[in-house]
Amino acid sequence: MKFFVDTADVAEIRDLAATGLLDGVTTNPSLIMKAGRPFRDVVAEICDIVPGPVSAEVVALDAAGMVAEGRSLGAIAANVVIKLPLTLDGLKACKALTGEGFKTNVTLCFSAVQALLAAKAGATFISPFIGRLDDIGLDGMALIREIRTIYDNYPALETEILAASIRTSNHVKEAALAGADVATVPPAVLKGLVAHPLTDKGIQAFMADWAKTGQTIL
Ligand code: E4P
Repeated sequence: MKFFVDTADVAEIRDLAATGLLDGVTTNPSLIMKAGRPFRDVVAEICDIVPGPVSAEVVALDAAGMVAEGRSLGAIAANVVIKLPLTLDGLKACKALTGEGFKTNVTLCFSAVQALLAAKAGATFISPFIGRLDDIGLDGMALIREIRTIYDNYPALETEILAASIRTSNHVKEAALAGADVATVPPAVLKGLVAHPLTDKGIQAFMADWAKTGQTIL
């Protein structure tokens, strides 16, 4: 499973990239607002730090506007992925931009049939939002499983499932079990994946016993 980080905070991205565990980045207009910096500068900086796919989202609502914005964002760096909303205009823009050789991420997916349409439009990634479905009492992970089954039924569909709106370590585990190709994870959740109280306890016990040996390794 590939790990993307879901943030536009360049310092966080730099920090996580240093672990060697980061395969890409996703941003959205709300994350750009939180970063409080010019959109294009942020995208360019992220693309310099992370060689993998970096999603940058259009804000036009009509297909022609999305295509124009997509071309402009795609010109920032070769690893920009143009993020488009799951509407008819978004799918039309996806088809057009894919045809021009751009990579695309169709976002705000909340149903399996939406994901089927995005794949037919040639999306590189489909982003089902797990957490936001859970928030309204539905089962976000069931959506990942449904999309996995549908895509596997039609091997000609090459779209990757990018599990989004992830809130917990358990979401990451369940998305991996369900066969998502990618998880985009907030920085705090990504860092939390490594933590286990028994790991910490084990290190403490080993260090205490090692100290009793009076030895050094170097
Ligand atoms: C995905 O690309 C989105 O940026 C993101 O995962 C949305 O997550 P949220 O529901 O926590 O805002």
